[in-house]
Amino acid sequence: MKLENDLKKNLLFFFSKINKKKLPLHEPFFFGNEKKYLSECISKNAVASVGNFIKKFEDSLKKFTGAKYCVLFCNGTSAIHIGLQTLGVKKNDEVLIPNINYIASANASLYLNAIPHFVNVNLDSLGIDILQLKKYLKKNTKIKNNRLFNIKTKRYITAIVPLHLYGYPCQIDEVLKIAKVYKLKVLEDAAESVGSFFKKKHLGTFGDVGALSFNGNKIITSGGGGALITNNEKIAIQARKLANVAKKKHSWKMVFSEKGYNYRMPNINAALGFSQLQKIKKILSYKKIVFKNYKKIFSDNKYFSIYSGLKDSSPNHWLVTIILKKKYIKYHESIIKFLISKNIEARPVWKPMTKTNYLKKYPAMNSNTSLDIAKRIINLPSSAYLYKYFNLKR
Ligand SMILES: Cc1ncc(COP(=O)(O)O)c(C=O)c1O
Repeated sequence: MKLENDLKKNLLFFFSKINKKKLPLHEPFFFGNEKKYLSECISKNAVASVGNFIKKFEDSLKKFTGAKYCVLFCNGTSAIHIGLQTLGVKKNDEVLIPNINYIASANASLYLNAIPHFVNVNLDSLGIDILQLKKYLKKNTKIKNNRLFNIKTKRYITAIVPLHLYGYPCQIDEVLKIAKVYKLKVLEDAAESVGSFFKKKHLGTFGDVGALSFNGNKIITSGGGGALITNNEKIAIQARKLANVAKKKHSWKMVFSEKGYNYRMPNINAALGFSQLQKIKKILSYKKIVFKNYKKIFSDNKYFSIYSGLKDSSPNHWLVTIILKKKYIKYHESIIKFLISKNIEARPVWKPMTKTNYLKKYPAMNSNTSLDIAKRIINLPSSAYLYKYFNLKR
């Protein structure tokens, strides 16, 4: 009890520096052209799927990320869904997905009648455990018809969906090596990683396809929204078509060429996203100040560490993440409840995929580390505007 109270006091000390009644986990920060662009959409009657902000947002995302092509979506999940389809994921194909994950990749696989197959993550990267995955694939798969074949389930494994958790790069270069050897397509879930780089390259641009999210809780927001980025022209053309209900181009005829989806981002959301992207460098510098202050204030505490990311990475620090030392796992839930009771919105990571009821029946490799990590992570309020409360600079 004494330890637990001391731990809680430690955390409260930090938040006592911030003179704010309620501290949400991550709020948007509007200080640019948001209102101007939104009212422009309204005054021009350009709030839906036609308008000049769509191209502007796509073009500036291409420039910022370095991707050759960008297609906007109504959210990140739909970008993952269509991304997997363009990579050729079909009914009964397996898709390798990290066990510590948001639900989007598993659901997107199921939308395609494919089979999510969960892989373990490690504490160093909070992403796919490369060594374990190599061993697992060596033991359980073979190449058949020039594709990866799961000897146990007798199904093909078509793609892998590495996740960069909280904007911190996973070992994406190692994932690419595995994908090459085992003939896997790569869709990077970079939903939380706008503004994050690994070896100076923007996350989402390593794989065949990357998916971004601009949901309200993300580092920049378009209200709701997402994007698919790629260097492959064919994929970009196919993705744009599928997200636009596969409607053929014609000045007045309405002809649809295949089963498509209404996954477009409306112009009004693109206007908001574009204005936010114009400010991303500032936002990233504010996020760094917030992160560094957390890191400094908690530097000598004995209960937890603050996750900083892999070497060679330049993360966006989307959510400040504490990792409890193993012996304090028992306090995990009570710390979160305590902080919430003080209006400090702390959050655990999602329940591992293998512990999610409707996903339990799908194949999975040993997930001990994933289960352990899930009991140790706590996210703390991380909004960019919190920089105002700290003296410590970048
Ligand atoms: C890791 C991850 N993947 C995918 C998504 C899906 O994004 P969206 O909420 O825009 O559908 C999110 C965001 O919520 C996410 O955090």
